Amino acid sequence: MKKPILVVSTGAGISAESGIKTFRDADGLWENYPVMQVASADGFRRDPELVHQFYNARRRDLIKALPNDAHRALVELEKDYDVYIITQNVDDLHERAGSSHVLHLHGELMKIRSVTNPDYIETLDIDHLETTPATRGKNGDPMRPHIVFFQEPVPNIEKAVELVHKADVFVVIGTSLVVYPAAGLIQCVRAGVPIYYIDPNPADTSAITGVHVIRAKATEGMRTLATLLTAPK
Ligand code: APR
Repeated sequence: MKKPILVVSTGAGISAESGIKTFRDADGLWENYPVMQVASADGFRRDPELVHQFYNARRRDLIKALPNDAHRALVELEKDYDVYIITQNVDDLHERAGSSHVLHLHGELMKIRSVTNPDYIETLDIDHLETTPATRGKNGDPMRPHIVFFQEPVPNIEKAVELVHKADVFVVIGTSLVVYPAAGLIQCVRAGVPIYYIDPNPADTSAITGVHVIRAKATEGMRTLATLLTAPK
């Protein structure tokens, strides 16, 4: 019997309980750097070395982080739903928790790609994260983080919109709904499809019909949501 489709849009908040800092809780600083200095196309052009060092430090943080119960609860829901995760996060915690379908909108921290050929991508080996950043590919190309910087297009947004159009249930977890186009996905839900928004300090979604706000941290909110979504029909 075909399972209903559950589409989940996650932001930095779902990784907060894994010890990874969110963005806007640090008033525009990301690990004490202005976001536009380390996460924008201009920033990379201005100082590629700083940006490489910055992302290498983020990778070393990521190695110490583990998926939390919220990531695992989403895997659990795969028993009753076809679950598709659309994440703004560049960490790999959804993959490490075991989610089957993960679509990254803003790139992936553990990948680097050629500056001259965007189709040439390498996955970094966790055990060999050099102290000096990975700036040259195995093919000799100059490399950059496989991250969607500010001022750059979001290549996977069309695929994400298609997924949201198919959703029978749409869930938003741990995002301030500030950065577009990701923040616009909530507007792409078919009429009548229930929307659940889990966040301890949720953005105002009163203008959008059918949003059930669960004001809680991701792990607690997912326990509430799981009972709602798996209650006997
Ligand atoms: N559980 C759930 N949500 C949480 C938790 C938690 N434990 N702690 C904080 N939050 C919520 C905050 O209330 C906020 O709404 O997570 C959200 C984090 O918002 P942001 O820091 O803005 O992160 P995000 O929405 O993912 O940012 C989007 O902006 O900087 C860019 O590319 C970057 O992907 C990022 C994008």
